[in-house]
Amino acid sequence: MGRKLTLALDLGSYELKGIIFEIVEYKNTIHVLAAKKEKTLGIEEGKIKNPNLLKEQVEKVIESLTEEVGDYVDDVYLSIPPINTLQNNMVKQMIVADSTGSAIIDNSHVSELTEKLIDEIKRKSESQQLTLIDFMINEYSTSPTPKSKYEIVDNPIGMHAYSLGMDMFFVLAESYVISTLQNIFDELEVILDKVTVPYVPGSLKAVPYTARKNGALYIDFGASFTDAVVFKNNSIVHSYSLPLGGDTITSDLVRAFGKNIDDRNFELAEKMKKKYSNLIIEAEDSQKNIFFEPDLLSDLFLNLEQVKLVMRERVKEIFSLIKDEVEQSNVLKARGINYAQVILAGGTAKFDGIADVAKEVFNLPVVVATPFIDSGVDFEEIDSPEFVPVYGLAEYFAGDLRKPELSSGIFNRVMGKLKTIFNRKKRG
Ligand SMILES: Nc1ncnc2c1ncn2[C@@H]1O[C@H](COP(=O)(O)OP(=O)(O)OP(=O)(O)O)[C@@H](O)[C@H]1O
Ligand SMILES: [Mg+2]
Repeated sequence: MGRKLTLALDLGSYELKGIIFEIVEYKNTIHVLAAKKEKTLGIEEGKIKNPNLLKEQVEKVIESLTEEVGDYVDDVYLSIPPINTLQNNMVKQMIVADSTGSAIIDNSHVSELTEKLIDEIKRKSESQQLTLIDFMINEYSTSPTPKSKYEIVDNPIGMHAYSLGMDMFFVLAESYVISTLQNIFDELEVILDKVTVPYVPGSLKAVPYTARKNGALYIDFGASFTDAVVFKNNSIVHSYSLPLGGDTITSDLVRAFGKNIDDRNFELAEKMKKKYSNLIIEAEDSQKNIFFEPDLLSDLFLNLEQVKLVMRERVKEIFSLIKDEVEQSNVLKARGINYAQVILAGGTAKFDGIADVAKEVFNLPVVVATPFIDSGVDFEEIDSPEFVPVYGLAEYFAGDLRKPELSSGIFNRVMGKLKTIFNRKKRG
């Protein structure tokens, strides 16, 4: 019997990012063995349009990774574009008191309430053709007597209380999307074990614990989407997906040169964007001419300053839209929540100078995250912002990104319940 290998796969709308890893139990961490990205096909604006094409690309990732490590993959952790999902919070309370009027809260109370919440979410979602794919316990609260108010507590275990409350963040996916993906992985003979959206594990990976406590805004600047997550008191208090991203910047470049947006022009502009991937305007930029199609006589050109301005303005606008949406959201307004820093991830965060542009918009410290891979293998090329979600995905479900203050026993039990969502098929 070989080692047990897992594939974490981020189905981005631009590229599929995959890593193969094994879980190092005694260190409670993962060991990454290989990583790979492949162009996404069969997905348009986050929606699966051609499952066969998608399957071929997934197969390519799996084949090249398994070839590299010389072993099969057993199961898959998957993140899917958030457009296929709904996310929400639900609060539930449960009386824990016995005949004496209070009780000491222990693991079994927490498990019971967690399971009740999950059952309720499942019941409500199934009638709407939605499937619960992921959840996180955001907050606990307790109330000492029947009449007193609930107070938020870090860890309820060991507390005297009359009742226990829980705020859960959960992610539902359209059931037909899950069954389509299920079929793809069945045909590829790997077990689809767990599914979530990229920004949950990505944000947990990129945003350090103290920042999650003090308030932070995580932004995954992808191709079709820019996702935002707000943390406060170590909870996800708000999330949002803006349907604009790196693709929007590329389209802007096509238009800036007076061209039509077709596949070829888009490709040319995409190349240009990556070549001049810098948002900081320098004095000599206005002297440098950029041609849209350099090999064409009488081609249109702009100077580099103009090209940078086109990219910079769109980046700025996307940050402003995120800022407005987040700050106008009910949760942040009602609870007076603010955040103290901004953390960027995703392929578009590779622009030089993007942190400066974000600083202009948010007036806060800005960091560009990378996965900080600790591995014997040379992962320099992929130790980059677009790999943050997929590395986070691996660590998240493997265990060490989940609430560190919670006993893992609770989590494992409840996660076991989630597994029944997916028909687990073993390779024959
Ligand atoms: N060096 C670079 N400079 C600027 N943009 C870049 C660079 N490298 C990649 N990008 C852009 O990053 C985007 C891809 O990012 P990413 O891989 O995070 O997206 P995705 O996860 O596939 O898509 P989404 O999250 O929107 O579903 C593309 O728009 C690409 O052009
Ligand atoms: Mg992405």
